[in-house]
Amino acid sequence: MSTEWSGTFSTGVEWQDRHHKELFKRINALLDAMNAGMGKEEVLRLFKFLDEYFVLHFDAEEKAMYETDYPAALAHVAEHKGFIAEIAKLEDECRRTGMSTALVIKTQGKVVDWLLSHIAKSDKALGAHILKKTGLRNRVE
Ligand SMILES: [Fe+2]
Ligand SMILES: [Fe+2]
Repeated sequence: MSTEWSGTFSTGVEWQDRHHKELFKRINALLDAMNAGMGKEEVLRLFKFLDEYFVLHFDAEEKAMYETDYPAALAHVAEHKGFIAEIAKLEDECRRTGMSTALVIKTQGKVVDWLLSHIAKSDKALGAHILKKTGLRNRVE
């Protein structure tokens, strides 16, 4: 199963959408490698490649929250932190026990489902807030 980005995931903020598209690409590369039966080393390399972008993306969103006084920042940042811990667990399982069908299913379920529901609720709410603040700031300037 691959997950394609579509307009329904748009938060309305250009850089957020661009980041989310890149995350989908990296998730699909990881799942494709897992489904194709690639070795543990290759899968771990793709996990790292995905993690790096999650860190960069979460940093960008968190910076935007602080810059715009986002009232729900704490809860949103907690979701990001929880996810980073989840993905670390999956990687650890891969490192310890190697690839398995169970791990592929778990990764697919946790990573894809998390991202889709996080974008649909938390990121869309943040995007609306950023747009509102940016609009206000533009009017003042
Ligand atoms: Fe987020
Ligand atoms: Fe996001």
